[in-house]
Amino acid sequence: MSWSDFVRIAHRGASGLAPENTLSAFSKALEIGVDGVEVDVRGTLDGKLVVLHDQTLDRTTDRTGCIHRMSLTEIQEADAGAWFGPSFIGEKVPTLAESLDLIKKTAITVLEVKDEWLSAEVVRAIHHTQSVNNVIVISFHASVLLEVRSLDPRIPTGFLTSGNPTPPQHKQALDLIQTTCKIGASTLNVKHEMLDASFAWEVRKRGVNLWVWTVDDVIQMQQLVTLGVQGITSNFPDRFVQAGNEEENYNEIYN
Ligand code: G3P
Ligand code: CA
Repeated sequence: MSWSDFVRIAHRGASGLAPENTLSAFSKALEIGVDGVEVDVRGTLDGKLVVLHDQTLDRTTDRTGCIHRMSLTEIQEADAGAWFGPSFIGEKVPTLAESLDLIKKTAITVLEVKDEWLSAEVVRAIHHTQSVNNVIVISFHASVLLEVRSLDPRIPTGFLTSGNPTPPQHKQALDLIQTTCKIGASTLNVKHEMLDASFAWEVRKRGVNLWVWTVDDVIQMQQLVTLGVQGITSNFPDRFVQAGNEEENYNEIYN
């Protein structure tokens, strides 16, 4: 497999270079050139969808409070950029709809549903922004993926797992493949530490896409591509370019 044969996904946008899950982080990722931008979705008190990783505003904004207990207006009063650097002051917590509209210009949205009760609202937002062709819904909750599929089977889904490697890994792969297939997901998206050659091969030979998160080390990216992963999620999408260039230089010299 060559370096160009996998899906490059910016984790929470280019979150190593701009405040995570903001329009700046998404724009930065698109500017670098990625295939997908991963976003985390949560629901507000007044039934709106916002893009934020944690349950609270505390870590990534200048305010505190639980997203589920606040209205969209209250949440958007928070500054979501200042904590990262002065050039991002004034950045807001984006809505899902504005994120989908921005990302679909040149990439797909890898839309992680954090809360189990959001599936119907998420599908509505995908329809409202005409993004069926520009999205894959991923979740740790099998119930979310089942519901999304039942609401609109055209929307591709990916099953996320945060498990640690438990030898023998080929056996662990078989269990996860069964769950992925049972819920009709096209992709198994695992923590990269989970992978060894046997795990990767068991998944790939059964025709299930294998994606990994979150990989920031260039050498590790190259090793994972060699194992045949079809998608890599990174906080530093600029390193995909760096790793690709290194491979090109290698090929020029030795092939
Ligand atoms: O892309 C999957 C990954 O984002 C899951 O973990 O905690 O970063 O949302 P987390
Ligand atoms: Ca995520």
